[in-house]
Amino acid sequence: MLRFSAALLLAATSLLVSTGVSAVKVTTCGPHVHRLSCETGVINVQSTMYGRTNAEICSGGKSAEEVSNTECSLQDATGTLQSRCDGKKVCELDPRVFTADPCNDTFKYLETNYTCVPATHLITCEHSLAHLECDGDQVIFVYGADFGRHDRTTCCYREPASRLQNVRCSNPTSKVADGCNGKKRCTLRASQSVFGDSCEGTSKYLELAYTCRNK
Ligand SMILES: *[C@@H]1O[C@H](CO)[C@@H](O)[C@H](O)[C@H]1NC(C)=O
Ligand SMILES: *[C@@H]1O[C@H](CO)[C@@H](O)[C@H](O)[C@H]1NC(C)=O
Repeated sequence: MLRFSAALLLAATSLLVSTGVSAVKVTTCGPHVHRLSCETGVINVQSTMYGRTNAEICSGGKSAEEVSNTECSLQDATGTLQSRCDGKKVCELDPRVFTADPCNDTFKYLETNYTCVPATHLITCEHSLAHLECDGDQVIFVYGADFGRHDRTTCCYREPASRLQNVRCSNPTSKVADGCNGKKRCTLRASQSVFGDSCEGTSKYLELAYTCRNK
């Protein structure tokens, strides 16, 4: 079944590539929630800007001093968004994910361009095994992986409410890509011993997305 859907998705990928995938743009003013989502496929962040490069965007109700600096943007905001959001169907965050402030007197906004790419989206509950597999001559390419918790309903069977409460448990990991990229099949255990424990007392799951590509 997995093999079949992977082949099917790959066919869909080339179709989309040849017709051009349209990008989605999300702009969030100030320190509020920034939400990316894909109904079909998974998030693939193209570029992110955090700061201000335009005087008009998100300027309502702001003083001239707060919007006049249009040469303010945080370095590598794109990398942060990619590690947090790539491979997910929904990704919510706010500017607190950035540790630096590129211009503290300016009213900033967060803007992200992303596409939704076809992929096998896999959720593996803690203590279970994630199996990734490709058919024929193709090999695994991982878009992103996160060992944490982002809602109260995933992998909740018989878990006490206290272990489901923290839905801001995010631990983006490159371990899946490091261990699986270029292989035909790959099995990983969704456990703290592999991915570490970023939020003690919370029941976690491994969320990842991958495609099969020609070698
Ligand atoms: C998003 O794409 C639009 C249109 O191509 C572009 O004007 C804008 O600068 C892009 N934003 C970022 C954050 O790259
Ligand atoms: C803003 O940044 C400047 C220079 O980096 C620093 O001296 C100042 O204390 C900062 N102000 C606030 C409110 O953080």
